[in-house]
Amino acid sequence: MCGIVGYLGKANAASVLISGLKRLEYRGYDSAGLALIDNEQILVSKAAGKVANLNERAHTNWDPELFERAATGIAHTRWATHGPPTEVNAHPHLDQTGDIALVHNGIIENYRALRARLEGKGHHFASETDTEVLAHLIGDCDNGDLFQAVCDALSQVEGTFGVAVISSREPDKIITARRGSPIVIGIGDGEAIIASDASAIVAHTQRVIYLDDNDIAIVTADSVDVRDLNNIPVTREIAELGLDAGATEKGGFEHFMLKEIHEQPEALSNAIRGRLDLHLGSSVLAGMGTSQRELAELGRVVMVACGTSLHASMVGEYAFEDLADIHAEVQQAAEFRYRNPILGNRDFVIAISQSGETADTLAAVKEAQQKGAFVMSLVNVVGSTIARETGRGVYLHAGPEISVASTKAFTCQVSVLLMMALKLGRGRRFSREEGLKIAREIEIIPELVAQVIRKNDLIAEIAEGYVKDEHAFFIGRGPMYPVALEGALKLKEISYIHAEGYHAAELKHGPIALLQPGTPVIAVACEGPAKDKTLGNVEECRARGAKILGIVTEGDTEAEEVMDDFISVPRAHPLVATIPAVVALQLFSYHVARLRGCEIDQPRNLAKSVTVE
Ligand code: F6R
Repeated sequence: MCGIVGYLGKANAASVLISGLKRLEYRGYDSAGLALIDNEQILVSKAAGKVANLNERAHTNWDPELFERAATGIAHTRWATHGPPTEVNAHPHLDQTGDIALVHNGIIENYRALRARLEGKGHHFASETDTEVLAHLIGDCDNGDLFQAVCDALSQVEGTFGVAVISSREPDKIITARRGSPIVIGIGDGEAIIASDASAIVAHTQRVIYLDDNDIAIVTADSVDVRDLNNIPVTREIAELGLDAGATEKGGFEHFMLKEIHEQPEALSNAIRGRLDLHLGSSVLAGMGTSQRELAELGRVVMVACGTSLHASMVGEYAFEDLADIHAEVQQAAEFRYRNPILGNRDFVIAISQSGETADTLAAVKEAQQKGAFVMSLVNVVGSTIARETGRGVYLHAGPEISVASTKAFTCQVSVLLMMALKLGRGRRFSREEGLKIAREIEIIPELVAQVIRKNDLIAEIAEGYVKDEHAFFIGRGPMYPVALEGALKLKEISYIHAEGYHAAELKHGPIALLQPGTPVIAVACEGPAKDKTLGNVEECRARGAKILGIVTEGDTEAEEVMDDFISVPRAHPLVATIPAVVALQLFSYHVARLRGCEIDQPRNLAKSVTVE
């Protein structure tokens, strides 16, 4: 949510910043801006809309020599929180002298009080943003030492921030700090690049420092000095990114979403590799940090997550109950911390998040830790806040997910949850032989997914029949219920078709009133204990003239016959089958959105990585 880039080198700051913003654009894309230091002056260019608009604006307004000459700058791509996405509200914001520029992710909660106080001292504000207040506050605190001014200002701030600040009076440094909003510092050869995530850094260097909450760093082209907000030096190790620059590019696909759907067989292989024990019929997930004895004593599994990760957790809930005989529940992270979750030291809380930065999930982690539960994470982004906060957990190894609509994270999350349930199940419930059966089913998930992806053209053809619809229902039962929810989420977020995910049995408790002849109902009816009941619900929809698209098991002619259209997915254990089934729905949503001409990778109003509550 919002992207920050800062650069210090010998030249070409503007070009580096703009290409960094393009790589971060998936984090927010309603407006963008950049500030450069040139001849002891701050120069700012901003534009509403995409980074492409900013690029055009900067090239029109600025001398080409400035592009080559300026060596220090900061830039930002925004997802609006305070004030609409206009040019004036875009970052960077300046202090009252125009000598200091700031980019900011997060929310300054006490900005109204700070603004009133500064207005009382004669400050005038041009924008409606909380960020401009922070820029003025830094200016107000500045007595000739930018680092100290940023420390003093941030100590007055309530809320969250990831910031990068420059001053024309100290042109060779960027001050950067974080609380609740990530900052990574890339250390190059005679250059440094600061960003809110590694995708803007990877083209420059693999060597990075991750700031922790309440860290503040003085960055020059050749040095990084990290302190806390009380000016006490702290040691932060240099880490290797281990990311390939190509992984954040489209690689010949029309959209990141399509690329990431196609990457799933490989991503799943990476998530599963080395983690199945095909001798003992169990799994090896060292990051869980629990002994087999501790696992046997666990009372309950509680998963906390948002959005797509929440739906993956719901599949996990079935897996823990079915495979491990353990009470499992899923809680929306945003609700969890504001109710009174009853937790104890036999409760196993798993925070599930692709980005590892989602504010509500992070808050839920802190709440669970405070209540003494055993907390771990299931995260994709290495070094992310939730991964570090929990200290123990399992990485997905799915590779960077750039498309705002999550795809490969979901399938990898479900696969790892199945492996966790298998591990718990072996300690509590089933024999080696039974464990082996499940392990072998998990082992072939990448191949099952590859088989669905090979149906891409067929799915694109089927999608043509749903392009003109404005409403759709997705239904399922058992573990296919969360698959239906995820299918509806995918369709609505990228195609803007109003899609509702419902438990198939719930439809007749109200929503069936909305069915009219031709209303699409997408029924996830793969083989499993709930299939016959789902087919019964499909008949109820057919009787009201609905147009049915079925996700069915290959060779299940009984299911095929009740559908107007169907996509068949390979036969598998009902929990495992959730994965190929969801891939069919990802492709279906993708093609509907493509045929409707939507901006698939950057849907309106959305942003990747939701770092505000
Ligand atoms: C939907 C989507 C979101 C995220 C949600 C949680 O396609 O991507 O619903 O799943 O914002 O994000 P993470 O998993 O990063 O915590």
